[in-house]
Amino acid sequence: MTEWPARVDIREVGPRDGLQNEAPVAVSERIRLIDALSRTGLRRIEAASFVSAAAIPPMAGSDEVMAGIDRGADIVYSALVPNAKGAERAVAARADELELVVSASETHNLKNIKRTVAESLIGARDVVEIAHNAGIEAEAIVSTAFGCPYEGDVAPERVAQLAGHLIDAEADRLSFGDTTGMATPRRVNDLLDALERAGISADRVGLHFHDTRGTALANVLAALERGVVRFDASIGGLGGCPYAPGASGNAVTEDLVHMCHDMGIETGIDLDALLACARLASEIVNRELPSALLHAGPRTRTYAS
Ligand code: COA
Ligand code: ZN
Repeated sequence: MTEWPARVDIREVGPRDGLQNEAPVAVSERIRLIDALSRTGLRRIEAASFVSAAAIPPMAGSDEVMAGIDRGADIVYSALVPNAKGAERAVAARADELELVVSASETHNLKNIKRTVAESLIGARDVVEIAHNAGIEAEAIVSTAFGCPYEGDVAPERVAQLAGHLIDAEADRLSFGDTTGMATPRRVNDLLDALERAGISADRVGLHFHDTRGTALANVLAALERGVVRFDASIGGLGGCPYAPGASGNAVTEDLVHMCHDMGIETGIDLDALLACARLASEIVNRELPSALLHAGPRTRTYAS
């Protein structure tokens, strides 16, 4: 029987990755969602991004969001930033951690950040420095790590090489994003193999899956079997990336938590409180969300009802 980790560390990304792909919602609604998520036992919440408002209108007002939330004592509220300007804004808004983002594919990086990968890597050093000077950590996220919507396959070796450059830039942590839901368990294993060959073990890796092609939880399982313990997920399955045509739906937080609990893997999260957040998220964006649990309820309820 396969050994799974005893505990996983789930970062909720709905308030950023989720809402950035929806029609803009009021700052007060963004705050309401984050405050509800703060009462579920989640320890990491990606609360906002500090990007150009012209590029991503739903993330305008992130300063007000950060100022308005009721912060839980042990919760890390992170912010995604594309450049030094974003890092400075995020620090001023009292983000607890920065996430800098670089694509593994040249075309995606150019469309998303308007910089070459090499330029982004230079910028990464500035972002890390700004974070460290402020006494906080900077995580590096490699997006399109399992495939690019413009270029197709992305070689795992390229992703591993980029990861090495980001470690050289003194990023405190690494995550790999499946921006458009192209990953499958085979690709997860191929990437983890390539990272291992580059000296980066699975326990240092965070993964960010999208369920665009229905593979998000299968990918999580493949990663759990390799010892990965950090995962991103989005409440209700909000999410996507506006520069990745057709991208929709992060891994669903409540579906992931439900699966983990039934496998005996601790998350520290209260599933009922999370489901209430999923209903709130659906209400805020005014549409049905892909969450399986919202429709079916947790497994135990099948017997009770
Ligand atoms: N936050 C707010 N404004 C920013 C900014 C930031 N992080 N970075 C740059 N700007 C402003 C500049 O000050 C400038 O403003 P001005 O026209 O009033 O002088 C304007 O944006 C253009 O600056 P420039 O450096 O030329 O940016 P750009 O047009 O090349 O765009 C990015 C580059 C990175 C700012 C933009 O592409 C972006 O925000 N991308 C983020 C995309 C994203 O969030 N994707 C989701 C993650 S998957
Ligand atoms: Zn995403």
